[in-house]
Amino acid sequence: MKHLLKLSDWSTEEIKETLDLADKLKAEKKAGIEHHILKGKTLGMIFEKSSTRTRVSFEVGIHDLGGSGLFLSSRDLQIGRGEPIEDTARVLSRYVDLIMIRTFEQEKVEKLAEYGSIPIINGLTDYCHPCQVLADLMTIREHKGKTEGLKLCYIGDGNNMTNSLIVGGIKMGMEVAVACPKGYEPDAELMKWASENGKFTCTEDILEAAKGADVLYTDVWASMGQEAEAEERKKIFKNYQINNSVMAVANEKAMVMHCLPAHRGEEITAEVLEAHANEIFDEAENRLHAQKAVMVKCME
Ligand code: CP
Ligand code: NVA
Repeated sequence: MKHLLKLSDWSTEEIKETLDLADKLKAEKKAGIEHHILKGKTLGMIFEKSSTRTRVSFEVGIHDLGGSGLFLSSRDLQIGRGEPIEDTARVLSRYVDLIMIRTFEQEKVEKLAEYGSIPIINGLTDYCHPCQVLADLMTIREHKGKTEGLKLCYIGDGNNMTNSLIVGGIKMGMEVAVACPKGYEPDAELMKWASENGKFTCTEDILEAAKGADVLYTDVWASMGQEAEAEERKKIFKNYQINNSVMAVANEKAMVMHCLPAHRGEEITAEVLEAHANEIFDEAENRLHAQKAVMVKCME
């Protein structure tokens, strides 16, 4: 068994194997072939934040694999009333076979893995979103036929998405260029690692980052938990948007990606989003196939 706590814990080989399995599971699902690889297994899904894609893709995913999923909202669990994660880990390990958790602190996910005895999958923390990036890499491979040698440009807040995209992009041989306002850069250690292990830049200049990009990516200006800063962030991020001017400097066949939910008129214009809806909703669909592959890999 293994955990998916953050993407940097997984080797390029493990990432590629997971993407290959996701491709296979997707093709077979489309062909009506069922794979009950996790027959009889139970997935516990702990949510301390809202979710549409992560919740539904994991729940449908475990069902497709022959198992069942339990939606565990922190509003109802005793962790919402202060029961330590160390105890929750040991209790749930005796009931379910694997856990997916969406929470605020990365430390909580690490602690769950330390105290539990079953695989733990990170379904988003303030630090990273590895499951989303596996689906993203799968979508890039689908649309571009490869990842190696492509330029990935991320425009916006240096947040959980950015951190995981940097790791996934560099590990899969992409050039990664981030454009974000000063003071909103991604994790400093990850940026250092990226510069030492591949082609990486971080700048305030959106057009410089987007120049010649094969993939343009953005995410919300204010993440879950930052609602109180939303108004202030609107001012700080107002130019950090994927719009036609940005598209004009990118590769003319550039694809546009967004983890969703999107705020039209903020980080992306409605026009660009709709023009690239095919890519963006393939990306959302691929959460299902990628998450199934992650569960299988973690249970091996
Ligand atoms: N992209 C993503 O994780 O979506 P949800 O917040 O709806 O799960
Ligand atoms: N950065 C966003 C991602 C949502 C999938 C957030 O954390 O809210």
